[in-house]
Amino acid sequence: MKASTGNYVATPGGHVAGEVRVPGDKSISHRAALLGAIAQGRTEIQGFLEGADCASTLAALSAMGVQHERLGPGHLVVHGAGMHGLRVPLRALDLGNSGTSMRLLAGILAGQAFESTLVGDASLMQRPMERVAEPLRRMGADIKTRDGRPPVTIRGLRALIGREHRLDLPSAQVKSALLLAGLYANGLTRVQEPGISRDHTERMLGAFGVAVGREADIISIEGPATLRAASIRIPGDFSSAAFFVAAGVISGKDQLVIRDVGINPTRTALLDILRLMGADIRVHAQRSADEEPRADIEVHPGQLRGIEVPPALVPIAMDELPVLIAVAALAEGETVVTGATELRVKESDRLAAMTTGLAALGVAVEPLPDGLRIQGGHVRGGTVDSHGDHRVAMAFAILGARAESPVIVRDVQNVATSFPAFAPTARALGLRLSEAG
Ligand code: S3P
Repeated sequence: MKASTGNYVATPGGHVAGEVRVPGDKSISHRAALLGAIAQGRTEIQGFLEGADCASTLAALSAMGVQHERLGPGHLVVHGAGMHGLRVPLRALDLGNSGTSMRLLAGILAGQAFESTLVGDASLMQRPMERVAEPLRRMGADIKTRDGRPPVTIRGLRALIGREHRLDLPSAQVKSALLLAGLYANGLTRVQEPGISRDHTERMLGAFGVAVGREADIISIEGPATLRAASIRIPGDFSSAAFFVAAGVISGKDQLVIRDVGINPTRTALLDILRLMGADIRVHAQRSADEEPRADIEVHPGQLRGIEVPPALVPIAMDELPVLIAVAALAEGETVVTGATELRVKESDRLAAMTTGLAALGVAVEPLPDGLRIQGGHVRGGTVDSHGDHRVAMAFAILGARAESPVIVRDVQNVATSFPAFAPTARALGLRLSEAG
C-alpha cells in the first residue's frame, strides 16, 4: 500500500472517460474482519479494502490474538477465535483515524471478560463516543470515556443483558455496536432508529448464520449467539466511487463506467441527488447471490443545476456530501444542504472544511448551523486545507479539474485511510492530479 504524499495539485483541464474499479467497501471490510474474528473457523474475504482504517481493525484483532493471512490483493483469510477466544491486549488498541473500528469494537469488547482501552489519532481522540458508551452501559457494560471522547476503557463482563434501544440519530456505527454486544447478551437486543442507516452489519450477520429480525424500523437479535465462518465477497466502495461519479458529471469527455460498486440502497442517495440536479447516471445492476447488491455505474457529462437537497436523502448521502458540496459550486444557481449536523463530527468538521475551502476558491458559500448554501458558478484556483480528512481532500481534488487555475489541497495523507491509490486512479482516467511533498 503506497500512502499519498502531503498535498495534491489539481490542474484544470483534464477529462475523465473509460472505466475504472474502486477499492473494496470500507464499512463492509471492517465488518468482515470483525465478524470473522469472533466466528468459529476460517473466514475467507475477497475485495477487502487495503487502506489504513481497515488495517487498524486488523491490527487491533491481531493484538487480541486473531490471526489472518493475506492470500493476494484484498484477499484475506481470518482465523476466527470464536465468541470467547479473543485474548487480553497487552496495550491500548490504537485505531488510528477509524471511528468505525472504535465504535464497532466497543460493542464486541463489552462482551469480553477482560479490560481494554481504545485510542486513536488526534482526530479520532476528539470524536463523540458516548453515543455507543451510554447504550452499552444500559446493557450492563462497564465502559468509560474521557468527557465523552476516547480513550474508551471497557472492563468486560460476560453477562450483558439484551435491551431495547431507541437511538436519537440514525447511526450504523451505534446500531452495529449494540447488535455486536447483543451477540454476547442474554435475551433480545432491539434497536430502533429514527431514520435509515447503512445495514451492512445486519446483512453480514445473516451470512455468519445469525438470525436478525427486521420489523419496520426495529432490528433485533437474540443472544447469546455463535457465528459460523463465512465466505465474503466485498463490492467496490460506493463512497469511493462517488468521487468518480462526480468527476464523470463535471469533467466527463464521454461516458465513464465504474465497475462492480456496492449499491446497497442505504448508501446510494448521492445518485438520486445528482439526478435531481440534472445528471445522467445509469445503474446496471448485476444479479448476484451475495448479501450486498452490486452494479456498474455509467455516468455521462452534463451541466448541473442547484437544488434544495431533500432532507430525507441527506442521512443516506452523509459520506458523499463533501463531494456533492464541491460539485454544487459548478451548478447553475443555488444549492442548499440542511439536516447535516452529523458532518461536524466526522473525521473533521466537514461543514466547516467545505465552507472555508470553497470560500478560498472564490465560491459564494453561506454556512448554516446544519448545512450550507452555495451559489454555483465559477471556481477560481487557490489553496484549500483538507483538515486531514480523506473525503474533503478527494472532493477538492475532483473540483480542481474545473477550476480556473490549479487548486492545491493540503494535508492529504489520510486519503490512505479509504482510497490509497486515489491519485494514480484519477490520473489514469484523465485527471491532472499530482502529489507533492
Ligand atoms: C459507517 C457509518 C456512518 C458513516 C461512516 C461509516 C459504518 O457513520 O458515516 O463513515 O461503517 O458503520 P454513522 O454511524 O455516524 O452514521
